[in-house]
Amino acid sequence: MKIGILTSGGDCPGINATIRGVGKTAIMHYGMEVIGIHSGFIGLLNKDVEALTERSLSGILNLGGTILGTSREKPFRKILEDSDGDKPQKIYETYRDLGLDCLVCIGGNGTQKTASRLSGMGFNIIGVPKTIDNDVWGTDITFGFDTAVGIATDAIDRLHSTASSHKRVMVVEVMGHHAGWIALYAGMAGGADVILLPELGFDINKVNEAILDRAHRGKPYSIVVVAEGIDIGEKSPHPSSYITQAIAEGTGIETRDTVLGYIQRGGNPSPFDRNLATRLGGHAAELIANKEFGKMVCMRGDEVASVALSEVGGKLKVVTPEHDLIRQGERMGINFGH
Ligand code: F6P
Repeated sequence: MKIGILTSGGDCPGINATIRGVGKTAIMHYGMEVIGIHSGFIGLLNKDVEALTERSLSGILNLGGTILGTSREKPFRKILEDSDGDKPQKIYETYRDLGLDCLVCIGGNGTQKTASRLSGMGFNIIGVPKTIDNDVWGTDITFGFDTAVGIATDAIDRLHSTASSHKRVMVVEVMGHHAGWIALYAGMAGGADVILLPELGFDINKVNEAILDRAHRGKPYSIVVVAEGIDIGEKSPHPSSYITQAIAEGTGIETRDTVLGYIQRGGNPSPFDRNLATRLGGHAAELIANKEFGKMVCMRGDEVASVALSEVGGKLKVVTPEHDLIRQGERMGINFGH
């Protein structure tokens, strides 16, 4: 069989480990031919591809980013002045010209939605979920999340020094798009005093009360972890700057702001993410060999499994208020915005 692999959406630690997992299993175990497609779906529109060999797949397990390049190209998005014509048709032509038996789409929610639509058009597709945000529906965890939580936790650990030495409130904004997974896990692991998640909303007066209450209990410093997706209306491009100002004004305590940004998704994947990516990649190759197309590989607990792409497309996995880490945090006096 001949398979194509593309990576689409934001880069994320563990993509190269996945490409290696799919590619090496396909070549060495199943005797398949593997084509790497450059820059996500753009590579299929422009036929920008390379042959992947056992050799080119070596030395990339611990490498951040993606050796194939990526883009946020969405071929089904209708743009009025789109002069490129019918993008899905172009993708079909490249798929056919390359003689592919299957296309592996490594990406987050947007990518899985595109993958599902291509599958609906009759392409043989396998999806592999990827994102630091951990918000892909249908899998318990995505690779990249553990690495991002590690980086954010390390940053929070470091902010404790300035918080306690200067008796300040330190606000830190973490990524996660519309989901609060990174904020919840890094906030709890970093010993935050306030954690604000998009899923729970917040009342700034309650946040200020919690910070003042700590001060009255002899702790004039606090760490506030803010998910980038919390709703603050149109007040500021960065929610953390709005929260920082509101806390400074509401409590009278000196307050500082840190936005972690792209640091969270750069660099080497954690050992956990490398192994997760390797397992998901290997399982993707197995599904292809068994001709089980139209599926996304996923994790259920510690088991590798798969789910129909048609079930995944267009959904989001978000934090629920009943999450055990929230329940436990609340029992320990951590403020979740209310
Ligand atoms: O999905 C990963 C992510 O890093 C989100 O956490 C963030 O909101 C978004 O990508 C940023 O996207 P871009 O790379 O297009 O700025």
